[in-house]
Amino acid sequence: MTTRARQFDGAIGASIKGFDLTHAGEPCDLESLREAVEQRMTQLLLESGDQADLLAAAMRAGALSAGKRMRPLLVMLVARDLGCTSPALVDVACAVEMVHAASLILDDMPCMDNARLRRGRPAIHVQYGEDVAILASVALLSRAFGVLATAGDIPPVTRARLVARLSETVGTQGLARGQYQDLHGGARTLDAIATTNELKTGVLLGVAVDMAAIIAQADERVATSLRAFALAAGHAFQIRDDFLDLPGTESGKDTGKDQGKSTLLASLGFEEAQRRLARYLDDAQQHLEDALGPQGGTHLFVGGLFAKGRARLRVPLDAARREALVN
Ligand code: IPE
Ligand code: IPE
Ligand code: MG
Ligand code: MG
Ligand code: MG
Repeated sequence: MTTRARQFDGAIGASIKGFDLTHAGEPCDLESLREAVEQRMTQLLLESGDQADLLAAAMRAGALSAGKRMRPLLVMLVARDLGCTSPALVDVACAVEMVHAASLILDDMPCMDNARLRRGRPAIHVQYGEDVAILASVALLSRAFGVLATAGDIPPVTRARLVARLSETVGTQGLARGQYQDLHGGARTLDAIATTNELKTGVLLGVAVDMAAIIAQADERVATSLRAFALAAGHAFQIRDDFLDLPGTESGKDTGKDQGKSTLLASLGFEEAQRRLARYLDDAQQHLEDALGPQGGTHLFVGGLFAKGRARLRVPLDAARREALVN
């Protein structure tokens, strides 16, 4: 592992270690894909060499700190499972991860979730100040589109589609809308909460697999199943993330930040939320199988990603944590 610690997601690499994610004779283990993404991100966010350049430092700290890299790995793995090894993939993957990193910086700001810890480190606004954090987030978003605009070997029409898809994902029908609903939606029905989760979390997984499908020129049926997979996985992922907000949970992030918010966990309660998470996961796996068949690196990755969540969620909550959950 190259980055500082997969200290908060050890299960992901470990559970897949030893598997050969070979596709079409080309070896591709998860760690080398992850390393390729991280090296390229590091190059794309070069140090300015100026110690006083806090904006560049904040961008790097936001994007290069120890995240799971779930979204860029989905781009790479889905494309490979579709038989595509275009050299442009890694840049496309990095662009998606930059959007994600930008969203996390804003999400932690005092005017949003008011969180102070991210990926086991002080949040970006805590390290660099709120003004620099906002600017770093905007600059990372802008960099993401710049990277997409210059990623090598993509026909112009395909590139335009990629840019359009990413832009929809960030905007008023995607992340920004989802975050707005999360903060301003108040008490909501289960369906409304699920819609918020889809917008704030699912659509970015959706665009990751969509971009892979676009570059790999997958047919419409496959692309539709892939998108359904990503949205179901996004629902499962956000419910699991809601569990990570429970006091006493170790995830490298603050806990208790969802108190007072409408989450599926708070609305459904522990057991029902667990059941719903499992249902979404089964749906995700079914859609993935419809798209790519029963094997492949994406299957292994997604299975490993959620294995730790399943194990963790089997641990019963003690009375105090149950209390914290329902209040
Ligand atoms: C956190 O995403 C934000 C959500 C959408 C729940 P991740 O859990 O993928 O965050 P990192 O990138 O691994 O830190
Ligand atoms: C936010 O969901 C999803 C984003 C768009 C960043 P959360 O607010 O629950 O994510 P965490 O728990 O802070 O990572
Ligand atoms: Mg939030
Ligand atoms: Mg948050
Ligand atoms: Mg959360």
